[in-house]
Amino acid sequence: MGVEGLAVALACRHGLDAEGVLTAALLHDYAKAEPQERLRELMEQGTDYKPTEEDLRHPAMWHGIAAAHVGRSEYGIDDLRVLEAVAYHTTGNEGLGPIGLALYVADYLEPTRGFNGVEQARREILTLTDLRQAALEVARRKIDKIQRKNQPLHGRTLAMARWLERETGKK
Ligand SMILES: [Fe+2]
Repeated sequence: MGVEGLAVALACRHGLDAEGVLTAALLHDYAKAEPQERLRELMEQGTDYKPTEEDLRHPAMWHGIAAAHVGRSEYGIDDLRVLEAVAYHTTGNEGLGPIGLALYVADYLEPTRGFNGVEQARREILTLTDLRQAALEVARRKIDKIQRKNQPLHGRTLAMARWLERETGKK
């Protein structure tokens, strides 16, 4: 629910379809508590976002792809701007639409997040007037943290950061 409030605030600030953003925010972690075997099943049943080989090596992002399938199959959501936002809310993706960018930013900065420096990150990112720049800042921080911890970085996150750098001219 923390993500929901912030995502809708971002939708209002950036002139997005608030209902689409709200739907994506309510759905994004719907499958998070499911065991990994169930998430694999849901991903395999889905038709919109088939997991790649690389996705299969990153179980932390499976719940997004699984929730996108649940959104369509159980709730009849057919808006691909919403479903892609849900599918890729953990990793981001090159070409992600504005609803996806808003969810990506809101998920990182939602009010119950308590990581070191979160207050400063909120001040720096939530005040940006360009949502693409805000998403780029989130992607950069995620990449930095993953690399510092020597964890595997998903190619979608890197691809999104490079795409947003081109889009915003922020090298
Ligand atoms: Fe999530």
